[in-house]
Amino acid sequence: MVRPFSSFQWYKGVDLADFDARMEANYRDIRFLFSLLYGNRRDSHLSFKKLMEALRENYHSRPDELRQIDIQRELDPGWFLSNRLVSTMLYVDQYAGNLKEFLKKIPYLRELGINVVHLMPLLKCPAGNNDGGYAVSDYHRIDERYGSMEDLRRIAWELRKEKMYLILDLVVNHTSDEHEWAKRARSGDPYYQNYYYMFDDRSIPDQFEETFPEIFPEAAPGNFTWIPEIKKWVMTVFHNFQWDLNYTNPTVFIEMVKILFFLANQGVDIVRLDAVPYLWKKIGTTGQNLEEAHIILRLMRLCAEIVCPGVLFIAEAIVQPEEIVKYFGTDEFAGRESHLAYHASLMVFFWDAIATTNSRMLRKGLENTPPNPQGTGWLVYIRCHDDIGLGFSDRDAREVGYDPFLHRKFLQEYYTGKFPGSSARGSLFMFNPKNQDARISGTTASLVGLEKALEEGNRLEIDICIRKIILLYSLVMSIDGLPILYYGDEVGYTNDYFYRNHPVHRYDNRWMHRPKIDWDKVERRKIEGSVENRIFTQIKRLISIRKSSPEFSGDSSFRLIDPENEHVFSCLREKEKRRTLVLANVSGERQFINSSILHGSGLLEHVFDKFSGNAPAKKSGKIILEPYSFYWLSEAE
Ligand code: GLC
Ligand code: GLC
Repeated sequence: MVRPFSSFQWYKGVDLADFDARMEANYRDIRFLFSLLYGNRRDSHLSFKKLMEALRENYHSRPDELRQIDIQRELDPGWFLSNRLVSTMLYVDQYAGNLKEFLKKIPYLRELGINVVHLMPLLKCPAGNNDGGYAVSDYHRIDERYGSMEDLRRIAWELRKEKMYLILDLVVNHTSDEHEWAKRARSGDPYYQNYYYMFDDRSIPDQFEETFPEIFPEAAPGNFTWIPEIKKWVMTVFHNFQWDLNYTNPTVFIEMVKILFFLANQGVDIVRLDAVPYLWKKIGTTGQNLEEAHIILRLMRLCAEIVCPGVLFIAEAIVQPEEIVKYFGTDEFAGRESHLAYHASLMVFFWDAIATTNSRMLRKGLENTPPNPQGTGWLVYIRCHDDIGLGFSDRDAREVGYDPFLHRKFLQEYYTGKFPGSSARGSLFMFNPKNQDARISGTTASLVGLEKALEEGNRLEIDICIRKIILLYSLVMSIDGLPILYYGDEVGYTNDYFYRNHPVHRYDNRWMHRPKIDWDKVERRKIEGSVENRIFTQIKRLISIRKSSPEFSGDSSFRLIDPENEHVFSCLREKEKRRTLVLANVSGERQFINSSILHGSGLLEHVFDKFSGNAPAKKSGKIILEPYSFYWLSEAE
């Protein structure tokens, strides 16, 4: 076995025993994966040496405290699957103004029960349009609008003290056109032009365009942008100011790995790798989910296993479930790619259930979700900062009897309030006339109809909408995975239309669901009976029950149950004799379920609902579920 660095046990005063052991465990695979990508290049050997050097240097500069955490987590690799974790995601500026002010909000998150915090992009980015920070111009600096790296380290430290965890984005697929590399490329330096995909004329770009879809067809049609200064086309899959990095160049890979370590060494616990399906491009493909994209991620992961093994990876792959699941790793790399991935179609199935008032798709979609490798988990959510893309697989739709195209149309109409009877107030995002494709923007509250109900002062409707929100979050908290509470949802934020008059954001209606938090509104959570109070207290309760229910953890069993009523979704969560049967009525009508479901799930007749603390309502041997209500049925302990 090769032991590349064992010759020196101490490196600038740091004990290398752990480093060596981890290197020994991963070296062969790293070499193998690296050569798959770069083996046929003349500079392959030299690049590999540089990579090895980067690992050693960053291990050396990893703060001691973090190294200790790495060791603890190596001993408990499934720590993040615990039912005790509940996450949120938020924009520091919209939430608190800046990082220093955010520190003061940590007690609020604790009050709610949140212990994993995804702070949306904070790194330096252009002053104008920066796609919500997803166009980074300096990976080593926090944008002045938010504060400094020192502030971030302080937050990481404070969170650690509170046994909370920090998630930060790493935008791996592209940089801003104002990044130093891009500036040099634009000034004509071929070395940096090689960091991107650049072409002198349209011949190659046109070939790519034949099969590449458009991500932002309204705002940024096409996948290439003309750079007049150098008379070249640069690949820009997202916006024209987001230049795609060229990972066929090993230097780009090494730069990004170093950035990963840099962030990890600031105390980031979980890195959200942005837009990973796009990491490798080939003519004749969609430029998504290519094998090489997985190799890049695996390589990154194995490198991290050596330098900062306590740090987790989230793959942001908003693609179909059978593709997403591959981001956990496959074959001999199963469980060795990312630890967590968004269950993007599950998110849509939740919304589907509310719109159709039946749980057919939700059930089918979960049934058809390929199993994820041991030691990995789904991020379960009903919405995030992005649009709700109707990216479920056509097969799921067909299997429950829908025409996929028409069903997507229905969902678009339902959530924009056009469908008769719908009170949703969403908007279509990036309508593409070529294929009628469109995604949906809008806050949870506005999508379930709360905005309209409040406007009309319709108390009955307000009540129903609150039920829908709690119902959706009860599913998020109890279905297999790490739940995300989207910021603002806990106090029922409705759409923020400010973006419409914003000089930069007005073209991008995702900003309607990225609200600026008004802390006076949040204070109303303390006023008994207010909308904020009703939502907040119930979400808080869901979180606290989840945290005391090991059967909800990501490594316990999850089984779909057929309640013989399509308006009701049911699953059984089980861990070491602790069982909870979830029953959720996604319709506006009262539903009845045969009590035999209890016996069939291995539960006794005498169960109680963990949420209300009461026995479920029954009538002539049937369990009654009120409109948009749910039970978490369990036996008394
Ligand atoms: C990710 C982000 C999204 C952004 C895109 C481009 O998908 O979630 O907000 O627009 O990447 O970076
Ligand atoms: C596309 C991308 C996803 C991104 C989203 C932004 O769906 O696949 O990565 O989050 O666009 O709207």
